[in-house]
Amino acid sequence: MAAGGARHLRFLLFGVFCVIVFYFVSQSSYDGVPNGPQNAVPRPRGEPYVNQSPLKAAPAVGAAYNPADFPMPMGPSDNGWTDILGGPAPGPRMNATFVTLARNSDVWDIAKSIRQVEDRFNRRYNYDWVFLNDKPFDETFKKVTTSLVSGTTFYGEIAEEHWSFPEWIDQDKAAKVRADMKERKIIYGDSVSYRHMCRFESGFFFRQPLMMNYEWYWRVEPNIKLFCDMHYDPFRFMVENGKKYAFVLSLYEYIETIPTLWESTKKFIKNHPEHIVEDNSMGFLSDDGGETYNRCHFWSNFEIGSLSWLRSKAYIDFFESLDKDGGFFYERWGDAPVHSIAAGLMLKKDEIHFFDDAAYWHVPFTHCPTDEKRRMDLRCHCNPKDNFDWKGYSCTSRYFDLNGLEKPKGYEEQTK
Ligand SMILES: *[C@@H]1O[C@H](CO)[C@@H](O)[C@H](O)[C@H]1NC(C)=O
Repeated sequence: MAAGGARHLRFLLFGVFCVIVFYFVSQSSYDGVPNGPQNAVPRPRGEPYVNQSPLKAAPAVGAAYNPADFPMPMGPSDNGWTDILGGPAPGPRMNATFVTLARNSDVWDIAKSIRQVEDRFNRRYNYDWVFLNDKPFDETFKKVTTSLVSGTTFYGEIAEEHWSFPEWIDQDKAAKVRADMKERKIIYGDSVSYRHMCRFESGFFFRQPLMMNYEWYWRVEPNIKLFCDMHYDPFRFMVENGKKYAFVLSLYEYIETIPTLWESTKKFIKNHPEHIVEDNSMGFLSDDGGETYNRCHFWSNFEIGSLSWLRSKAYIDFFESLDKDGGFFYERWGDAPVHSIAAGLMLKKDEIHFFDDAAYWHVPFTHCPTDEKRRMDLRCHCNPKDNFDWKGYSCTSRYFDLNGLEKPKGYEEQTK
């Protein structure tokens, strides 16, 4: 009798257990990121990611959600912080992608970048990755990069009109400039393709058909390093904090490459005062209230930003005005000062963010968090001595002062 009762109880418990398991399995179904355009390369392995939260299913990309339902710990003192990063990160995903401009010959250099970005961040978030090239990507490039990216990869060929001389450019004049810059040994001074690249990154990458599927981008170049764990989702941070543009390194531009960029900018300001926002970062760009450019810019080989902002009338008017002036070819305007001047004048100060956690290297500069505790918490592998932030040729100190931000403890020791 007693044995029969125990068996009954076991059956009962087993039944309850099954119901609970069924409940959680059915609750945690998640539709995943909607499939992208037709030319997506199918993932060779498994699902993009599974939702781990047993209570709240992650909202679909682009759907409204309450941030309080999905706590996102930014540091060890925040609720839900886990020291060891394992498994897919719970919570919503933003409408975002990585983007890389690369040639087929860059495959092993971009492989290194992807490996670090995946290990430090994306293996838990599985964001897509868009690769762009002015030539078709070859099979090796696609195979290697697809095997490394945990999200879906897309490969786009840049349209001819986004990678060529516009018809108003005087070819002879442009050729003379290149010859002269070569003579004066200005870096990339005689390169045509470098100029096409700068113009593409300034005015077209965000309108490329594959990029039209997203609202946010994180730019990654071949051969970069990422030194610290990124626990949280920087895209989500941007969205929830009203940020539009983020950087990690800033410095002074070579004046030889942009002698008349500021004249063109001033002309634009005069023609389009409606695009210049109040509470902008003119103080980052100019020491005399806008008369001259101090050459400070955010280094654009790392960027996290809003594609909608770049597609806005304000930004497009700015790019088109610069493009008509011809400085991408008659000088060697870089996309870094172009993006930076735009962000500095057309975004509010507090829409620009400095990502201290994104410890980063691109030859020859390093951003390594100054704060030792942070480096330990995030398991960083950079040498703090290499940190460029507070050195004389960096503009980051100026950014901190302008925004009333407190510099990290110990920054004075890193100025030399
Ligand atoms: C992502 O953004 C693009 C561009 O705005 C939009 O077309 C697309 O529908 C969005 N996707 C989702 C899932 O919201």
